[in-house]
Amino acid sequence: MPMEKIIALTINGQREEGAFPPHRTLLEALRGLGHVDVKSGCEKGDCGACAVLVDGVAIDSCLTLAWTVEGQEITTVSGLGDLAEPHPLQAAFADSGGVQCGYCTPGMIIAAKALIDRNPEPSEDDIRLDLSGNLCRCTGYTKIFEAVRTAATTMRAHGGKA
Ligand code: FES
Ligand code: FES
Repeated sequence: MPMEKIIALTINGQREEGAFPPHRTLLEALRGLGHVDVKSGCEKGDCGACAVLVDGVAIDSCLTLAWTVEGQEITTVSGLGDLAEPHPLQAAFADSGGVQCGYCTPGMIIAAKALIDRNPEPSEDDIRLDLSGNLCRCTGYTKIFEAVRTAATTMRAHGGKA
């Protein structure tokens, strides 16, 4: 059995430690630490269900070894907001019907957050391009793209603050 090492991760602003072998992916580590809002889909970089922000950049956690992001800020969809105080993206996805089974939703919202932070007024093509790595089996994407446009408008109205 490969040797385990204590890895300290900063997840949604909290430092958490776990003992992981060197080949443990960030997806496995996050879910093992109880962050099951990060979804496991293809586990090979195709579906985007496992996306999280690392220092503000959306990455597929299934393709990232946990030890490589020690010391960086990891944000999962739960770190953006909650039922009491949803992030504009979370609210817009719920309101627009962009959530059906919901399995793709955490990764979609993370990809959209990274896009809007970088480009507060994304065009339709920008949205389609940046979410092209996120697959949804339910919605047909129209409602998802609508939700991203709505959230971008809301965030601009609040000076870019979520
Ligand atoms: S589970 Fe990571 S891209 Fe599909
Ligand atoms: S809402 Fe079901 S996979 Fe997207």
